[in-house]
Parts: sequence; C-alpha cells; structure tokens
Amino acid sequence: MNATALLSPVPVAPPTAGASLVEARDLTRIWGKGDASQIGVSGVDLDVRPGELVAVIGPSGSGKSTLGALIAGIDRPTSGSLVVSGTRIDRMKTDQLAAWRGGNVGIVFQDFHLLPTLTAVENVELALELGSRVGRRQRHQAALEALELVGLGGHAHKLPAQMSGGEQQRVGIARATVTRPALIVADEPTGALDQANGHAVFDLLAGLTRTGTTVVFITHDLNLADAADRVVSMIDGRVASVDERGAGS
Ligand SMILES: Nc1ncnc2c1ncn2[C@@H]1O[C@H](COP(=O)(O)OP(=O)(O)OP(=O)(O)O)[C@@H](O)[C@H]1O
Ligand SMILES: [Mg+2]
Repeated sequence: MNATALLSPVPVAPPTAGASLVEARDLTRIWGKGDASQIGVSGVDLDVRPGELVAVIGPSGSGKSTLGALIAGIDRPTSGSLVVSGTRIDRMKTDQLAAWRGGNVGIVFQDFHLLPTLTAVENVELALELGSRVGRRQRHQAALEALELVGLGGHAHKLPAQMSGGEQQRVGIARATVTRPALIVADEPTGALDQANGHAVFDLLAGLTRTGTTVVFITHDLNLADAADRVVSMIDGRVASVDERGAGS
C-alpha cells in the first residue's frame, strides 16, 4: 500500500451494509464487588451507524469515558456484548484487543498524549509502526500527508512544546486518522482548547464522516454536541436519552 492509498478519501466500507458500526448490548463495566463496587456503565444499549458523528454528553462521572474506552477497545466490559466494525470485541484477550485496536480505531485524548521528545511527524508516524507492513519512507510520507489534511503541513518538524494546544490536538487527530480507522473515539478533544480551536477540532472530526469514518465524540460542550448527528445523554452510567440532531438543523 502506498502513502496516498493510506490517505485518499475513499469511503470506508462498512462491514455489512446497513449494519451498525458500533453495537453495544447490555454493556456493563463495574469495578470491585459488593458495597465497594464502582459502576462505570451499566446496561448500555447503543448503536452507532457507519459514517455518523455521535456526541456523548452527561455530567461528570456519568460514564462517558468508560463507554468511550470500551468502544475503543482500551478497556473490557464486565458483561454485555460489544461489536465494533463487525468484530465482537468484548471477549477478546488484552493482546488481541490491542492488535485489533491498532488497525480499527483512532483515539483522540483531551490532553493530546503526544510524546514530548518527538516532532509532530514522528508522533504521527508512531501510529503506523505497530504491526505495520508499510516501509519507513511510506510511513513518513503518510504522516506528512495526514498533517497536511489537518492544516499542519508547515509544522511537521516542530516539537509539541513549540505548538499551541489547538495545533497539538490537530497532531493528535492526524495520528488517529493516519491508519485510516473506521472509527474515531475522541474523549473531550476540545476540553483543553479555547472556543475557536475547539470549533476547528470539531469541524475536522465532523469532516471525517464525509469519507465514511464514524466518530464518537465525548464532550461537555453542548453547542458542539448540537451539531452532531445524534446526541447520547448519559446519567449514572446509563443512556438516559438519544436525540437526533443533524448538522445545521
Ligand atoms: N478505574 C476505575 N476504577 C474504579 N472506578 C472507576 C474507574 N474509572 C472510572 N470509574 C468510575 O466510573 C464512573 C464513571 O466515570 P467516567 O470517567 O466514565 O465518567 P465521565 O462521564 O467520563 O466523567 P468526566 O466528565 O468527569 O470525564 C465514576 O463514578 C468513576 O469514579
Ligand atoms: Mg471523562
């Protein structure tokens, strides 16, 4: 595969036409036992359609990050079933899950998670190194192109500390998208940014859905959530409501 093929705006084919990209059933994550148990999420049923941007909102502690981590394959549920991109991931072992994640999910974090001693392009290249059969030059080229797509072509050789928060988050998005995953899970990606940069990051994530990428966008910003295709409201570890919004409606 050449670098252009990695990044060209070819729609990501859903595993089965019409099927959900994410299908959670009775999804539950609990830590500890008995009186000491902590509920992350409980009995969550959720479908996310291919190519849609779903916002997940709710008060602090309502289970948004827990749900995001399960969907992204960072964490495993206590019970329930979870199909992501056609694969049943709830019973995968940790190492299987890590391998699956590398090829299927891009993750964007509130605090960017860039390695401080690596340049922007090196940070993005790292995402292609795990299990990649793509050569070094092609990885570099693909990373440069991913940075171009987020408007950072001129910043490729800067260290994170030499970039603004908004720029660092755009590097985070380039890193999440360079593997061309079917799903992006972003946990409060605008939480550390001012309003203008937050909108720019949201617009980049929303733009990904135009090439078929599915985006789960966890946020406290109700204005941004309003522009999502659907809004999932969490309360006390449960889905309290799911509202269709539709961009521009
Ligand atoms: N590793 C853990 N061990 C025990 N309890 C946990 C763990 N992670 C999360 N929880 C609990 O799960 C519940 C949901 O937490 P979660 O981080 O998903 O909330 P959130 O909606 O993302 O909140 P915020 O808006 O503050 O980020 C909380 O009660 C939290 O204390
Ligand atoms: Mg959270």
